[in-house]
Amino acid sequence: MNKTTNEIRQKFLNFFERKGHVILPSSSLIPHNDSTLLFTNAGMNQFKEFFLGQKKICYPRIATAQHCLRTGGKHNDLDNVGYTSKHHTFFEMLGNFSFSDYFKKEAIEYAWELLTSKNWFNIPKNKLWISVYKDDYETYEIWANIIQIPTERIIKIGDKNQSKYNSDNFWQMSDTGPCGPSTEIFYDYGDKPITNSVEFLENKNDRFIEIWNIVFIEFNRISKTKIVSLPNKSIDTGMGLERISAVLQNVNSNYDIDIFQELIKKVALFSCVKDLNNISLKIIADHIRSCAYIIAEDIIPSNENRGYVLRRIIRRALRHGHKIGIKKRFFYKLVDVLIQVMGTSANILKEKKEQIEEILKTEEIQFYQTLDKGLKILNHELKKTKNTILSGETAFYLYDTFGFPIDLTADICRERNIKIDYINYKLLKEKQKKQSNIKNKFHKDYSNTVIINDTCLFEGYKKHKTASVIKHIFVKNQAVQEILINETGIIFLDTTTFYGESGGQVGDIGELYHKNSRFIVEDTKKYGNTIGHIGKIILGKMQINDNVYTKIDKNYRHSIQLNHSATHLLHATLRKIFGKNVHQKGSLVNSTYLRFDFSYSKPIKLSEIQEIEHIINMKIRDNILIKTKKLTLEEAKKKNAMCLFENKYDSIVRVVFINNDFSIELCGGTHTKRTGDIGLFKITSQSSISSGIKRIEAKTGQKAIDYLHEKDNNIKDISLILNCNQYHIKEKIHQIIKQTKELEKKIINFQQQESLDYVKTLIKHANDIKGIKFISNIFYNYEHKLLRIIVDKLKKELKKTIVILINIVKNRFTIIIGVTENLTNDVTAISIMNIIMKKIHGNGGGKKEIAEGGGINTKQLPMILNHIQLWINTQLKNKKE
Ligand code: ALA
Repeated sequence: MNKTTNEIRQKFLNFFERKGHVILPSSSLIPHNDSTLLFTNAGMNQFKEFFLGQKKICYPRIATAQHCLRTGGKHNDLDNVGYTSKHHTFFEMLGNFSFSDYFKKEAIEYAWELLTSKNWFNIPKNKLWISVYKDDYETYEIWANIIQIPTERIIKIGDKNQSKYNSDNFWQMSDTGPCGPSTEIFYDYGDKPITNSVEFLENKNDRFIEIWNIVFIEFNRISKTKIVSLPNKSIDTGMGLERISAVLQNVNSNYDIDIFQELIKKVALFSCVKDLNNISLKIIADHIRSCAYIIAEDIIPSNENRGYVLRRIIRRALRHGHKIGIKKRFFYKLVDVLIQVMGTSANILKEKKEQIEEILKTEEIQFYQTLDKGLKILNHELKKTKNTILSGETAFYLYDTFGFPIDLTADICRERNIKIDYINYKLLKEKQKKQSNIKNKFHKDYSNTVIINDTCLFEGYKKHKTASVIKHIFVKNQAVQEILINETGIIFLDTTTFYGESGGQVGDIGELYHKNSRFIVEDTKKYGNTIGHIGKIILGKMQINDNVYTKIDKNYRHSIQLNHSATHLLHATLRKIFGKNVHQKGSLVNSTYLRFDFSYSKPIKLSEIQEIEHIINMKIRDNILIKTKKLTLEEAKKKNAMCLFENKYDSIVRVVFINNDFSIELCGGTHTKRTGDIGLFKITSQSSISSGIKRIEAKTGQKAIDYLHEKDNNIKDISLILNCNQYHIKEKIHQIIKQTKELEKKIINFQQQESLDYVKTLIKHANDIKGIKFISNIFYNYEHKLLRIIVDKLKKELKKTIVILINIVKNRFTIIIGVTENLTNDVTAISIMNIIMKKIHGNGGGKKEIAEGGGINTKQLPMILNHIQLWINTQLKNKKE
């Protein structure tokens, strides 16, 4: 059989469909409901809850071709990519799953039939070897007695370091979660048959390639040391599509299969490399796949989490492009051919093609600006490196200044057998992190060290005031019984109207009070399921169990609400104008303005900003009633409610509607009653905060009007200064610029003339030291560049001269020293400069014939010039005599 990879994928799915499996699409590369994983790393991830029995599945038999990424966490293949024939960052995993349905026997029989049957993959049986977990006798028996594999080809694999289940034949998804013993099927790439397990184990990694892993999910790992049995047994299998394609296409390396060959050929066209076995070509072909699929999930290169993984892979690919002599941007140009070769798996790429290309292009432009410089520094350091260790300082410097992720530096070092001093590198990184954290210390003190397990009823959607009871008090992060006058602390209540900072909306301010006590709330934050009122007591004292009233600052909250509702309008409008690829990446809503970060890679034009404002203000004038409803997450999804899926939501969610078709968003924040309350929406700035992420800042209501008034006032001031009315400002400025240019030209002419006059005067007053003209002069508020002209002219006119010219501007001076070439054996400009600078503590540099410098110690200058003249005198005298 010599089928294409796309046909092999389909054949696998057809086989299992015939065996009663439902074929489901690949789930997202981002495991949305699982914080234990950065990226989907196996076909079974999307079924985790079903394996654990937390949810019941409607299909007992399923098969998928799952997109996977192994670039971090428990399974990380990034460093191997390109250097081995079978590792990839992105790959497709073919898998069949059984949930409390068939178990070991059928799973093994299905795998064997698909691999060896003439109707299916038709692989010769004697090419296949089996491994089983050492204690799994049942599986051993199935292979030996039912499938009838010769026992010398069934290898028992034990535990490593005598630690139970720490084995190549015990699979677990992550540090915790579903797991169980496995049996693996290997393909023998060797020519001459071997017959014993010792040889198998010796050659396991070269000659034998694991093509299928069948996992018997029986346990749940709770922690490093704790593993519990699951009530239901399930099957999870995984076969790397690229590996089985290599077998069926009769090639030795995954990189020789159709998909990779097409990509590799395309990359080679950009470079001058002819040998398609070149490692860099393979790395680039691998990396374009992971990068494109990651970006298709709306991840953007950044310095954190998934965005950083993406950035690391892109930069590694670009560095390899650079290494094989690709001079122009190329990486984004591979997206086209990738879409062509990936067949049905490319659907998600087709939808997001433009976005993927744009983001790759931007990242390429950014990184190329520093790549060359960084590489030069690294190469220089590597040449100097004597003991095969690159210093942590250099690695950190490259990371910090040139954006070289550590694995990129490691990749380059590896090519020269040099290791990195990781310990020092990490120390420096930690230090940098700590320094940037110091700024947030106050905030952190409050949010991290107070741990409280309680709830608080939030009544602030409808009311500003409520009666409540104090449940906990913290002063200096310690739980206390009472808080006394002038003390600052945090008060927790059973009911509140104060909104705890979350979802981008800042916390409320206001007061807690009773007859004889008053606590000013300066901020409100969430602590788990309860809300902390942070502030200071200014009257009396408060104790646990005291009855108090909560009263938020109405105006402050009102301004926040306007900005929050406007943020929803903005989000919906951006998606209308720029398309569904726009996703919220961050937001801040406070009482003075709103800030909204979103994924969008093109520059935003002024006309687009105006259109956004226009649509939002129209919605404001429509005075739409803003409704909130509690829905199940499923119902909300059906309504296409926008939400940040990275957050875990409860099964019941709060959804905010601004018209049923304009903006529907999951949100716990507080909003205005009607859009008309917002009054006015005005964008005050837009910028790009990192590649592919834009930021818009805006104001609403009275704050927007104040902003416009301020602009008007400015314009008025400008017109007063320019002495014209505001409609003529532009014209007036053009006029002034033109006049200034003309004046500048005149000044330059004048100064040149003046400098010629100076030359004459200076020559006239030159001192003669043994036939050599010594000229020194101090100018005030002169053009430094004219001094240079004067020095050059003097040197030309006088043939043998030493010139020192100083210019003083506002207590600072610049100095220029010229010495004609014929004198430089005796005196040089730089030696004079050094003497002056030593006396005056300034800075200067230069060569034998010309030197320049400057400083602030202007008072000593006349004295120093005298001293220099004497020094030159002696210098010339000594030399001559
Ligand atoms: N989940 C198993 C693996 O990824 C099949 O190898």
